[in-house]
Amino acid sequence: MVGILVYVLIFVLSLLLFITKRKGMKELYKRVELPPGSMGWPYIGETLQLYSRDPNVFFADKQKRYGEIFKSHILGCPCVMLASPEAARFVLVTQAQLFKPTYPKSKEHLIGPSALFFHQGDYHMRLRKLVQGSLSLDALRNLVVDISALAASALDSWIGGHVINTFQELKKFSFEVGILAIFGHLEIHYKEELKKNYRIVDKGYNSFPTSLPGTTYRKAQTARERLSKILSDIISERKEKRLLEKDLLGCLLNSKDEKGQVLTDDQIADNIIGVLFAAQDTTASSLTWIVKYLHDNPKLLEAVKAEQKEIYKMNGEGSQPLSWNQTRNMPFTSKIVLESLRMASIISFTFREAVADVEYNGYLIPKGWKVMPLFRNIHHNPEYFSDPHNFDPSRFEVAPKPNTFVPFGSGVHVCPGNEFAKLEMLIITHHLTTKFRWEVVGSQNEIQYGPFPVPLNGLPARFWKAQDN
Ligand code: HEM
Repeated sequence: MVGILVYVLIFVLSLLLFITKRKGMKELYKRVELPPGSMGWPYIGETLQLYSRDPNVFFADKQKRYGEIFKSHILGCPCVMLASPEAARFVLVTQAQLFKPTYPKSKEHLIGPSALFFHQGDYHMRLRKLVQGSLSLDALRNLVVDISALAASALDSWIGGHVINTFQELKKFSFEVGILAIFGHLEIHYKEELKKNYRIVDKGYNSFPTSLPGTTYRKAQTARERLSKILSDIISERKEKRLLEKDLLGCLLNSKDEKGQVLTDDQIADNIIGVLFAAQDTTASSLTWIVKYLHDNPKLLEAVKAEQKEIYKMNGEGSQPLSWNQTRNMPFTSKIVLESLRMASIISFTFREAVADVEYNGYLIPKGWKVMPLFRNIHHNPEYFSDPHNFDPSRFEVAPKPNTFVPFGSGVHVCPGNEFAKLEMLIITHHLTTKFRWEVVGSQNEIQYGPFPVPLNGLPARFWKAQDN
């Protein structure tokens, strides 16, 4: 009898809660309205408008027409796009708990569902600390000499005057550097196997997600299974050797949660693939843009050369390796790096999904809608960056206004690899400008999206040793 009464009580309380909540929601819906904007055609929405031309033109046009917050409908989802620093901060920092990360399932499966960027809450925090720890300034300090050697050998392999695809070559470099940060010095046969299979996964990532035999996506799924097996072999070997390495794999293997639980091999593998994935194309396309911006701005190139040649001379014309302290003292080149990140804004926006109805600045963001902070629009707004389409590193002589410079995102998911990426950019620039000259081939101002913006055809270019002048 008491049991039944308890059930009835719970039912009545739940009903009351539901009614109050609905009433609250109705009031919210009465008080606030959806942002302005157009939802396009039924189902396809504005997907074609977005993908049939430069996406930046789409976003810039919308902002001109509707202001800094507007709605649209792309890839089958209603969404709210946010082009102001305050709105991006609201979604990514102050009210981050109301917006969860969201990725298509097909992509989540290829990378691995336990990779940190698909998660929120305790698991995400635990993994983030581990990834951040392995990429801390202290850890990076020990990688300078090895990254520098990889940069020198990559650039040496480009010389001779034949045309190379700069982006593809830099992808190879950023993969090698990623492997270094994750595994330290990995045996060559493991590296080759990882490279071969990762390339197939990478190709499938942006393909049409059908598992029919023979499709690019299916091949990627199979290669992803092989990657798990290779990683599991590497993990077993590490466990047997009982080494306490400080690289990412070491951090993941040694981690125990408050209950003493270690991570499973699958969780470790998903996060390793996740980090490789987050690091490779992003860094390679940013590096490609630096090569282009320096090529297009001879005066700036001369100023970078002057700064880097000083360091080169101090190192006995390159007979001693570049040091960590030297990479921390490249004031002009550092501004070139920041301005390249701003100009290229290779992550033009990110996605979240509202987990509840949210009110922002008098507008409603309905539960389940996608929310897109538009980093590129912020970086190219003349209110925050004067003459924004002009490549001008001197603008970074003063710090940008708060929340207006977010090439690495912001808040709980901000890029843990940001210092690492900037270090790679400084090191490549050091070698490039002290020992090489180059010439860009063909059309120079078109951009292709794959999905990150890269100069057309990956910036075909020829490289020579500088003394061959
Ligand atoms: C220039 C190069 C890079 C750019 C522009 C970049 C940009 C970003 C951005 C904007 C985010 C946040 C995405 C979001 O909030 O939805 C992010 C997240 C992330 N990045 Fe990077 N990134 C770069 C390089 C790297 C590198 C080199 C690594 C690792 C070695 C890395 C690892 C990650 C990881 C693991 C996350 C997910 C963090 C989380 O969810 O907590 N990134 N990156």
